[in-house]
Amino acid sequence: MLPREVVELLAPKAGETYVDCTAGLGGHAALVGPLVGASGRVVLNDVDDGNLGKAAAAVRRACGDACPELVTIRGNFAELPHALGGLHGGQGIRADMVLADLGFSSNQVDDPARGLSFRLDGPLDMRLDPSLKLSAADMVNGLPEAELARILRDYGEERHAGLVARKLVQARKETPILTTARLAEVVRSVLSGRSGPASIDPATRSFQALRIAVNDELGSLQALLAAVLRGASGSAGRGTGSGSWLGTGARVAIISFHSLEDRLVKRAMEEVASRGVGEVLTRSPAMADEPEQRANPRSRSAKLRAVRIDGALGV
Ligand SMILES: C[S@@+](CC[C@H](N)C(=O)[O-])C[C@H]1O[C@@H](n2cnc3c(N)ncnc32)[C@H](O)[C@@H]1O
Repeated sequence: MLPREVVELLAPKAGETYVDCTAGLGGHAALVGPLVGASGRVVLNDVDDGNLGKAAAAVRRACGDACPELVTIRGNFAELPHALGGLHGGQGIRADMVLADLGFSSNQVDDPARGLSFRLDGPLDMRLDPSLKLSAADMVNGLPEAELARILRDYGEERHAGLVARKLVQARKETPILTTARLAEVVRSVLSGRSGPASIDPATRSFQALRIAVNDELGSLQALLAAVLRGASGSAGRGTGSGSWLGTGARVAIISFHSLEDRLVKRAMEEVASRGVGEVLTRSPAMADEPEQRANPRSRSAKLRAVRIDGALGV
């Protein structure tokens, strides 16, 4: 997503450390890896073990004989600053560039077993991290109606959240809702004929909302942004060795796909600037150009923002 814009904003230099919070299939890491070169370092993090392996392979392929030091970490990026602090015998690793490209990768949404897509029938799961306790089926069949409505409204911007939640509760009394096809059918039965763009499946917003809730996507993002603010202020934070996890001059870029996410990112980056510990690099968010939007419809909602961390007293 937004490959040229990401590389321009991160401005990688030989010997630097790149930390990819959401390695995915390694698309961005494979662009940055050759630019930091053999004297640099690439840290790949993802909740999805399978993707982590694919990303590492993509970086190796792209870098050939000049591969940077490659570190892979399986986990939520909310914990990443802490994990970085424990590396290299507890001395920690300091990032010169950080990227978080939020959400899911194409292979995840195309895998029916993950239950992320209303286009493919599969178990109603939606967990990107298999170690999470609650699946989407647990939520849809177990949460009170009012909580379901809140999730649909807040995370999916579903205008008919109350009606959909009521119908879900009625439907689950008849038979538990255990598959993506059944969830999509129930949601569509409420929304068909109601106003909304004809090009968008009425189930889209409910699926997005549940995915955000199941994976606590906003909670993880808030934790990462809090760590950026702590890092920008030179604070070590919990268990991060001595000093910040962000080097002086570090560039932090975040791609979000939802107005709630973008608002959090915008606010945190402005806070870095207002505390006088860094500068926002994107006055307005960078968006995908026409060809990228045509090639990848999901890029239409992508917003890229970046900030440079100058640090408190260059800690
Ligand atoms: C949009 S993809 C990243 C694509 C990647 N930038 C590329 O170029 O291939 C998002 C990835 O982030 C991972 N992910 C989502 N939320 C995460 C979290 N809180 N912590 C760690 N990884 C996460 C997903 O498993 C997925 O692999």
